[in-house]
Amino acid sequence: METPAPTIRVQTARAGTVRADLVVVPMGGDTIRERVRRVGGTSLVRRAEAADFRGRPDDVFVHGVNGKTIVLVGMGAEPGADAWRKVGSRARREAERHGARSVAVHLGDAVQHPDVLAAVAESFLLAGYRFDRYKLDRKSPTAKVLILAGDKAPKPAAWRPVLDGIVILSDLVCSARDLVNEPPSIATPSYIAKHAERLAVDTPGLKVEVWAGRRLEREGLAGLLAVARGSLEEPRFIQLRYAPAGAKRRVALVGKGITFDSGGLSLKPPKSMETMKYDMAGAATVLSAVAAAAKLRLPVAVTAYAPTTENLPGGRAQKPGDVIKFLNGKTAEVLNTDAEGRLILADALALAAKTKPDALVDVATLTGAARVALGPSYAAVLGNDQVTIDALVAAGRAAGEPVWQLPLVREYRDDIRSPIADVKNVGGPEGGTITAALFLEEFVGDAKWAHLDIAGPAFAERDTTLSGKGATGFGVRLLVEWLRGLAA
Ligand code: BES
Ligand code: MN
Ligand code: ZN
Repeated sequence: METPAPTIRVQTARAGTVRADLVVVPMGGDTIRERVRRVGGTSLVRRAEAADFRGRPDDVFVHGVNGKTIVLVGMGAEPGADAWRKVGSRARREAERHGARSVAVHLGDAVQHPDVLAAVAESFLLAGYRFDRYKLDRKSPTAKVLILAGDKAPKPAAWRPVLDGIVILSDLVCSARDLVNEPPSIATPSYIAKHAERLAVDTPGLKVEVWAGRRLEREGLAGLLAVARGSLEEPRFIQLRYAPAGAKRRVALVGKGITFDSGGLSLKPPKSMETMKYDMAGAATVLSAVAAAAKLRLPVAVTAYAPTTENLPGGRAQKPGDVIKFLNGKTAEVLNTDAEGRLILADALALAAKTKPDALVDVATLTGAARVALGPSYAAVLGNDQVTIDALVAAGRAAGEPVWQLPLVREYRDDIRSPIADVKNVGGPEGGTITAALFLEEFVGDAKWAHLDIAGPAFAERDTTLSGKGATGFGVRLLVEWLRGLAA
């Protein structure tokens, strides 16, 4: 983000006297009346009751007095992390709507819990993101200070490391969003490579390697080169590495980096192309995740592999009927050039698998079918290792980035059989997310592998708790949560 994130403080204060332009008070359970009274006296109780505010989840009451805005947010009886995220998000949206520079969220007893502080702070930061670089009329966010107040604030040693971590992570989520939101003629493969190089320069312990031109041929990245043939824009293969001394685990992340997916010669209809700049969200996600691991000094070695290219129907474009021979020796018949993601991931997975990582996870906007099946909130996860899948599902739940397992139905392999090559790159009309994953499985060797299809949640068509319309940065926090679990 171009403007610096608001500063965050944790303070002991009473709900009625905390000083800020906007005061948010989450509340629920049966002591509502008394709590509202403590915030704004009996007159606020009367108004809140008149507006039918009863502290149920999604109840909100906004009231302005003497230039100060009070926002009561209903929490229900036992709020979980998602409810706290909604509080931070609501706080930020009301702050920007009312032009508040300082915002206080009064957490009552909950101020004692670092997890609550983290959830509120994180959602406050993420919900403040906007991408308005190309607008004439752009205003920087108004909120400059967030005060997390409560009846008895914990000591700084208890919250400072937590909130420092949140700021680092939110920043990297937002830089992934920026990369995805950037128009496709700007965010080209070389632009993404430069982004990775910048991350490496800015982050101690991160090393970057970018392959281009003849190097790609020498390394045998046939799938990436085949897709790139249709475009004048040169492909890049990016590796971003973090290998701390004494790491207990070593993992590989692979991210799909199609900077624009026209479909190639199997051209998409115009409507389907409108958002296809986001087809590199997987690459953006894994680059940010590795950078976060380094900045947070997690004791896990992580390498991100990001094959990046455009998928265009230029004069030298690959054609339906062509055969690719990949890095691991397997061949695929390309029957639909719009199933290009699996082609660029194939080599990357094979290359990553050769390094014998403890786990191999790929992240890709791979199939429209995943978005159809699960909608825009959930990513699909499939793979050959249930332990890794379970860990990703748990991490997603904790991070508020949910993923749902689909079965890797081995019988459907028949659907990707080719008469002339080892496999073909499309299945039948059914189970598209599964047949795509089965194609990928051909390239992971004996690695413990899981595949995240983020076609749904990577891009929002409407506002969500943590994101506005556009790129969401989905997967960064989930992967970091998973890496933290591996380290523990
Ligand atoms: N990038 C698309 C998948 C996609 C579609 C992501 C919609 C986000 C939203 C991918 O390259 C693609 O075109 N997949 C095809 C596969 C088909 C040709 C087998 C699809 O999903 O239609
Ligand atoms: Mn495609
Ligand atoms: Zn694609």
